[in-house]
Amino acid sequence: MTRTVLITGGAGGLGRAFALGFADPGARVAVADVNAAGAEETAALVRERGAQALAVAVDVTSLESTEAMATQVAAFGGGGIDVLVNNAAIYAGITRSPFEEIDPAEWDRVMAVNLKGPWLCARACSPHLREGGAIVNISSATVLSGSEQWMHYVASKGGVIALTRVMAKELGRRGIRVNAIAPGFTLTEASYALMEDAASYGVDRAALKRPSQPEDIVGAARFLAGPDSSYISGQTLVVDGGRQF
Ligand code: NAI
Repeated sequence: MTRTVLITGGAGGLGRAFALGFADPGARVAVADVNAAGAEETAALVRERGAQALAVAVDVTSLESTEAMATQVAAFGGGGIDVLVNNAAIYAGITRSPFEEIDPAEWDRVMAVNLKGPWLCARACSPHLREGGAIVNISSATVLSGSEQWMHYVASKGGVIALTRVMAKELGRRGIRVNAIAPGFTLTEASYALMEDAASYGVDRAALKRPSQPEDIVGAARFLAGPDSSYISGQTLVVDGGRQF
């Protein structure tokens, strides 16, 4: 399918899996990340799949940087963007502590990347989004479970669900749909950095009794970005192997 898809946070992990998942022959996949080298690596892998790729260095916390990204990606896309996947976020490097002890500066940093970031990316891309396009925001199942000792992260991802509902209303008039995915714990380098026993974490509580790989989340993104979900907007799809929070 010839469409232009922008994945933020595409240097590795879930973002790389999304980029490869959208790498249909002829598609244009833009991979944006603060990690420019990682974005280039992903772009090279996308090209190996027969799609066109563009790597973009971006800091999603900056208005100027996200606007420059959107302009560059729209030019790459022949004058527009069809799909934005708002995936960039931070979590592995942040402190886990009771909410009374969260450092306010860290709270602000988490909100800047995880909540302001998706807003700024959507804001910058909005003028370039084609009718029939879609935004897929990556939230987290921790919003539903109320994951302990992580209130800044959980609150930022709850905010992503709120952004999703508002943007769905405001962009719906232009035929653009906005949905979110709330993945359960998924095995990426970052989640291994978070906990050594990542591969077994939560598996007993998942109906499917196996850990989630990044590829397990890709189908949901393709569905929400594509014609099979043409009358779905403002929703959050939980993809957690039946763990049910
Ligand atoms: P990751 O750390 O591999 O990916 C995040 C990417 O965002 C990185 O490539 C990083 O360089 C980029 N990034 C960070 N700050 C940025 C900034 N200011 N500007 C631009 N890019 C920036 O993490 P992972 O595991 O792939 O997670 C991807 C998404 O999925 C995140 O939104 C995360 O919150 C969400 N998620 C992950 C789960 C998991 O268990 N892995 C579960 C639920 C949600």
